[in-house]
Amino acid sequence: MRVGIVREIGLGERRVAATPDTTKRLIKLGFEVQVEAGAGELASFQDADYESAGASIAPTATEVWDTSDLVLKVRPPDALPEGGHEADHLREGATLISFIWPSKNPELVARLSGRKVTVLAMDQIPRITRAQKMDALSSMANIAGYRAVIEAASFFGRFFTGQMTAAGKVPPAKVMVIGAGVAGLAAIGAARSLGAIVRAFDTRPGVKEQIESMGAEFLELQFEEEGAGEGGYAKEMSPAFIAAEMALFAEQARDVDIIITTALIPGRPAPVLITPEMVESMKKGSVIVDLAAENGGNCALTQPERVITHRGITIIGYVDLPSRLAPTASQLYGSNLCHMIADMGGAKAWHIDREDEVIRGALIMENGEVCWPPPRIEKKEVEPAKRPSVKPVAKRDSHAVALKESRPKQRGHGHGADTGRPSSLWPMVAAAVVIAAASQFAPPEFVAHLTVFVLACFVGWQVVWNVTPALHTPLMSVTNAVSGIILVGGMLNVAGPLGSPATLLGALALLLSAINVAGGFLVTQRMLKMFAKSPEEERGGQNG
Ligand code: NAI
Repeated sequence: MRVGIVREIGLGERRVAATPDTTKRLIKLGFEVQVEAGAGELASFQDADYESAGASIAPTATEVWDTSDLVLKVRPPDALPEGGHEADHLREGATLISFIWPSKNPELVARLSGRKVTVLAMDQIPRITRAQKMDALSSMANIAGYRAVIEAASFFGRFFTGQMTAAGKVPPAKVMVIGAGVAGLAAIGAARSLGAIVRAFDTRPGVKEQIESMGAEFLELQFEEEGAGEGGYAKEMSPAFIAAEMALFAEQARDVDIIITTALIPGRPAPVLITPEMVESMKKGSVIVDLAAENGGNCALTQPERVITHRGITIIGYVDLPSRLAPTASQLYGSNLCHMIADMGGAKAWHIDREDEVIRGALIMENGEVCWPPPRIEKKEVEPAKRPSVKPVAKRDSHAVALKESRPKQRGHGHGADTGRPSSLWPMVAAAVVIAAASQFAPPEFVAHLTVFVLACFVGWQVVWNVTPALHTPLMSVTNAVSGIILVGGMLNVAGPLGSPATLLGALALLLSAINVAGGFLVTQRMLKMFAKSPEEERGGQNG
């Protein structure tokens, strides 16, 4: 199977869908790789680097499109400068993986569907734990957050860090970050590491710890409204809440030097949070970087793709921040692609698994048959990196909480879930046969122990298998702690004759299971802290 990498034609786009490093990984996955001449040039990768990695160089884009079974791209296919359209070059039956933005580009979807091709959109990969390694939106947002700080620094006329020099004192820069999602947290990290004083605000109070753990101050709002929506994303806030946060920003605007805004609810225009009056109240030389520029901007004065100066304040509306860090962006994007391609079986076992929630989410069309948007999946995996919504996990089962959730998995999640009862019967039948056979030859105590062992395995399996995957780690640590029952056995043995092998083994069992119990509870506590806030904390947050 041949993978083709074309040069990006989008104006100013410097990224490329594969680097020499990810080319090697694709070859390891069994693919033959061909790269259009000069495809990696703007990201500092030369044709010779790709050749050393094992790729062949095709002189033209047309050759790559025409002869590849799988084309990897960064930007959605676009009109070619010389006429025609990239999509029209994709050969029938081939697969394309790139950013597509299907809701913004219905004509492109129709055009591709006419080519009878298979298309997977990197922008449609669900933001769930299992898909993190393929989550190109997060990789790019992370870079955008970092780069936003670098851009701000390049327009800001002062140090970020405070300095005491012989010539005088320079105060540290004060940075406010609005929206502490992936991009916001990356911006906080970058600004802190440059030495600035950083403050951040988000509608989801659950990110407070993350903000503080990065050395920034969480700006609190005296307003009772929960900002966490489903699936780890934020929900749209009420006009009253927006007004209250804007009052907070108005106060901060007079004090801070740099504002980085990243506030967005997926699928909605960006909320306007910084008014012209707030901009004008900032100190001369201050900088605003508006990451939401492409979706309308969080600042009323932002002009997408441009840098403007308004009464001495610079407002940066770049929409291509990841492309401004092209080598890293290409490496991370290429890596996301490799993970996805590996999950799809690599060249040897290439397949589109519609039962796989991640692949199904990204699948726009298969052999020209448009299948986007995917059917709604009722049960959501809890996103640990964000404030999860525990209650909706078991929608039809109001008394169930996530940890106790024990419904069989839904259709489409594999693991023989649809056929739940028959598939779990087989191991039981097998176990019964083994026990019956053992009872013929082995001593009765052995059969009794074996029966307990098999039942324990079965119950353990049932418990773990039916718990939401994101909660496996805390569950496992609880199980560890429960395994402390060994402690009791150890104690009984230790009471035996001093120095006998049974006593020594008992002592060892005591030591190991004590570590297990303590460690288990510690890990559980830590994990659960990430998932939930106590009511006291919630109240404390709102009051304080
Ligand atoms: P995200 O969904 O992880 O984070 C957005 C954050 O904004 C969330 O934490 C949410 O709670 C918060 N938020 C929503 N409404 C808010 C409000 N009214 N006040 C305060 N906080 C609010 O999104 P991610 O991936 O971090 O991306 C952030 C932005 O960066 C998006 O607009 C995205 O399109 C943009 N982006 C821009 C790039 C560029 O080159 N300019 C490149 C990559 C991403």
